Amino acid sequence: MPCTVVVCGFFGDTGKGKVISYLSIKDKVAVTARAGVGPNAGHTVVHKGKEYKLRMLPSAFVSDKCRLLIGPGVLVNPETLLYEVQLTKSEDRVRVDPQCAIIEPRHVKTDKMGALAEKIRTTGSGSGPCNAERALRTARLARDFPKLEKFLTDVPLEVNEAIEEGKNVLIEGTQGTYLSLFHGTYPYCTSKDVTASAACSDVGIGPTKVDDVILVLKAYTTRVGAGPLDGELSWEEAEKRGWAEIATVTGRRRRAAPFNYNLAKRAVMLNGATEVALTKIDILFPESKGAKTFEALSQPAREFIRNVESKIKVPVTLVGSGPGVWEIVDRRD
Ligand code: IMP
Ligand code: MG
Repeated sequence: MPCTVVVCGFFGDTGKGKVISYLSIKDKVAVTARAGVGPNAGHTVVHKGKEYKLRMLPSAFVSDKCRLLIGPGVLVNPETLLYEVQLTKSEDRVRVDPQCAIIEPRHVKTDKMGALAEKIRTTGSGSGPCNAERALRTARLARDFPKLEKFLTDVPLEVNEAIEEGKNVLIEGTQGTYLSLFHGTYPYCTSKDVTASAACSDVGIGPTKVDDVILVLKAYTTRVGAGPLDGELSWEEAEKRGWAEIATVTGRRRRAAPFNYNLAKRAVMLNGATEVALTKIDILFPESKGAKTFEALSQPAREFIRNVESKIKVPVTLVGSGPGVWEIVDRRD
């Protein structure tokens, strides 16, 4: 903190939701701003025994005093937003920038029926077609929708003021580095850049305002949709290893492969990462489930973490040891 950006170093679904929810409570984050593409993201947060699958709201909603902002670079689906506001009872603190572009039914229809659906296996959330319209300057914005009026605020102004006042601010990236339109596995990628710099742009802060960039990496890699995945395992093998996951938004099977050091190292570079959060260590090393200190992790788990650090040259400050917000090793000072 004070201003920390959280982004994923692989293909999304590395557990950003859990890391962000932990940080928001632990560091008493005053303001969080959601960056990234839009409702194509699925973030799972387990809080007080309840599992939330969010597509629009910031994962920091678990911290009850935190302002929950959505930056102007993010696409908003009003139905999804209003549903999640109700689900999390967060009407008084969720705010959307008037310049967020709005996903309309025609975008969802095109995304589900169009050529991209088959070729790239998009999430079908309407994000690509809406961003295309935004580039053409035909998309409508949040300010054009009366039902969003009570949620509107100048998000860049709020975020910059909070930073100026020395409050803890969290910028929530979505998707993952290799789904970036610029740095990812084109054309098998999403509809814009999603690295840390893009996350700053999405919420309207300049690069000089950022103190830390936390890169979230999972102990193995997964990817949904089409595109290259080095060392990909069969579904049967993934099941055997406990790596067989089902996607939050689409319900599709996630393809799985071992931890990729080359991708991790490049993601550190592309995002200017200062720290790494390594998640799901308990899946690789079940005896480490629920560990809250580095010492409580098993010997092989600790060796794995040290190996990651020596190869990517960035400290692993957070280690996820289970889905719950408090199942985490925090090695920050
Ligand atoms: P789109 O973003 O819906 O256009 O999908 C483009 C590609 O990015 C597809 O392979 C999706 O499965 C993938 N993708 C988009 N958002 C996410 C995410 O939040 N997590 C994982 N994969 C994603
Ligand atoms: Mg996800």
